[in-house]
Amino acid sequence: MAENLISLYDLIGGEAHLRALVDNFYDIMDSAPEAKELRALHAQSLSQSREKLFMFLSGWSGGPQLYIEKYGHPRLRQRHMPFSIGILERDQWLWCMNKALDEGQYPPSVVEHLKARLAEAADFLRNRADGFDNR
Ligand code: HEM
Repeated sequence: MAENLISLYDLIGGEAHLRALVDNFYDIMDSAPEAKELRALHAQSLSQSREKLFMFLSGWSGGPQLYIEKYGHPRLRQRHMPFSIGILERDQWLWCMNKALDEGQYPPSVVEHLKARLAEAADFLRNRADGFDNR
């Protein structure tokens, strides 16, 4: 049955639209004062970040597993350990992503679903004990 289900990747509009979403996400991160601390965690050039997040989200959303084919298992929590991620960084990441999603031409139900799933993913990557809801 599962093979008859339409994937999030298709609902987003496939490769070109996913790339556009990721590009807009990093453009927002690169320019918005609201994402200053998040931007500072990244390298000066965001080109590798753009490529890797696009490749990861391709497989994550049900499209081609580009990231896994090239880099192996994502192990995202482990790969984010070098960066101090607390509530501030999580919320800045989600602020950029939610803005990018709002600026795209996606069906509202798709946007709502993506926001909820990405919020879970971002929360899972917190590795600094701060705020009132530490894990
Ligand atoms: C919670 C807030 C987050 C922060 C502060 C953060 C920060 C970073 C930083 C600084 C890097 C290294 C630079 C780069 O190569 O792009 C990185 C890499 C990456 N991030 Fe995040 N990130 C966050 C959330 C997420 C989420 C929610 C996802 C997936 C949905 C994600 C996916 C990735 C991927 C795939 C890489 C590349 C990993 C690699 O191969 O090295 N990140 N992130």
